[in-house]
Amino acid sequence: MSKSYSDTFTGPHMLGIAGLNRLEVISLLDRAEQFVALNRQRKKHQDLLNGRTLINLFFEPSTRTQSSFELAGKRLGADVINMAIQTSSIAKGETLIDTAVTLNAMRPDLLVVRHSASGAAALLSQKVDCAVINAGDGAHEHPTQALLDALTLRAHFGDLSGLKIAICGDVVHSRVARSNIILLTLMGAQVRLCAPPTLLPTKASAWGVEVFHDMKQALVGCDVVMVLRLQKERMNSACVPSSREYFHYFGLDREKLNLAKKGALVMHPGPMNRGVEIDSEIADDPNVSLINEQVESGVAMRMAVLASLAEGRHE
Ligand code: NCD
Repeated sequence: MSKSYSDTFTGPHMLGIAGLNRLEVISLLDRAEQFVALNRQRKKHQDLLNGRTLINLFFEPSTRTQSSFELAGKRLGADVINMAIQTSSIAKGETLIDTAVTLNAMRPDLLVVRHSASGAAALLSQKVDCAVINAGDGAHEHPTQALLDALTLRAHFGDLSGLKIAICGDVVHSRVARSNIILLTLMGAQVRLCAPPTLLPTKASAWGVEVFHDMKQALVGCDVVMVLRLQKERMNSACVPSSREYFHYFGLDREKLNLAKKGALVMHPGPMNRGVEIDSEIADDPNVSLINEQVESGVAMRMAVLASLAEGRHE
């Protein structure tokens, strides 16, 4: 059977989950699964990106995302540089676009961008010649996080379709939530959102999800609980009265998790605020927590995205 053009993801950029179709997502999951296996071997190299250059351009702090893109590029044989924003000309007032255009003149093949402004990666993709990967733009999208979450879920459940997944916490400021809602609903999962009204966008119910303000109702019958960090750096005013009160009503602890399906699993994109959105007892319980597996999936998924984008640019 001949493959149609959109059976496989080839780019030209990875700006968001919006715009991808099911087959493209499946092609990335299949490819990443092979990289999970490669990453578990002693020799973790493949030379798919030999001779290619990857630049990480992170305007916001990152532990997991930046290091996993760096590792993914290196494992595939690319030359990788991490721009140190604090010591770059950005600290002297250079604009985002001028910085990107300057880097573009060094002829990178792949530019990974994280920025506090929604749409920053899409804007850059119009100014440079290389493939741009959105590693988080404001509260808009974080596509590789949703893809790595789907990879983690597929390893446990086989199929995402029909899964009941509760996304709990600071949805309004979360690009992780947005990308996950689009991807999970695309793959046939049933998504529930649970947060106080101050942490939910007013249009949330139009996203094809069920909206809850009470964790005890939201978790009943769920296969997976995905917990989000309170993103204080994006809040203009206090959205919750106190961390203590928030934990009481919306923090995931054993008592609340017991309301979900027996054997329900827990995810968190990190970084975690223990005792605020999640109890340490849950985060550290290997029988329920997928948090470290999400990190492992992250390297493999980023390898899949980088390899697919590089192949899509056959010059
Ligand atoms: C997330 C992010 O930066 O959007 N972290 C991540 O990439 N793993 C979530 C967060 O910062 O809370």
